Amino acid sequence: MRISIALPSGRLLKDTKAFLEEVGIKVKEPDSRELISSLDSYTFYFPRVFDVPVYVENGVDLGICGSDIVLERKNEVYVPVDLPFGKCRMSLIVPKGKKISPEKMEGFKIATKYPEITQDFFLEKGIKVKILKLNGAVELAAKVGIADAIVDIVDTGNTLRANDLEEVYKIMDISAVLLVNRITQKTKFDFVNNLITKIRKIK
Ligand code: PRP
Repeated sequence: MRISIALPSGRLLKDTKAFLEEVGIKVKEPDSRELISSLDSYTFYFPRVFDVPVYVENGVDLGICGSDIVLERKNEVYVPVDLPFGKCRMSLIVPKGKKISPEKMEGFKIATKYPEITQDFFLEKGIKVKILKLNGAVELAAKVGIADAIVDIVDTGNTLRANDLEEVYKIMDISAVLLVNRITQKTKFDFVNNLITKIRKIK
């Protein structure tokens, strides 16, 4: 039986490799600019981290990415277990000295890589905002002033400090998660179940 796994390229990859090794899956990174590798009975795919849930929904057996991405992408995947790495938070952030509660942000422009999560957050509070969808370096939008606030990931807080920004509200805690394809969950049930048991023992 072969198992395919979509892995997160970028900052989560190192911890993902180390963690999978702990549960008995040795990862081989692809050569040069290739996006696929194989080792033992595993095939590894290396999409952009934001696309991991799309691969898993559409046929790849397993995936690993941040819980933020699963919530943003809203794909039909099974998320059975949190993983003990990739921990950070998603926060609402404003320029230093401009602290204001989210309830008072009616009409604000909010820049973010996460339009769905941001929309859901403000909808739930009954506050109307305009969302500017960016693809990265979101802090810049607040610094330049094209947005009143941003919704972004905070890990060490270094990026906030370097850009004179401050958090006003923590929207959610984030960690890496395991994604399982809905069909794999049934057809490769023993494998998936075993893997989840091993992961729970490590956590
Ligand atoms: C993420 C996030 C923040 C930064 C937070 O960006 O969007 O910019 O990390 O980390 P810190 O609190 O440890 O400074 P990433 O490096 O993933 O790239 P991006 O700006 O292109 O989204």
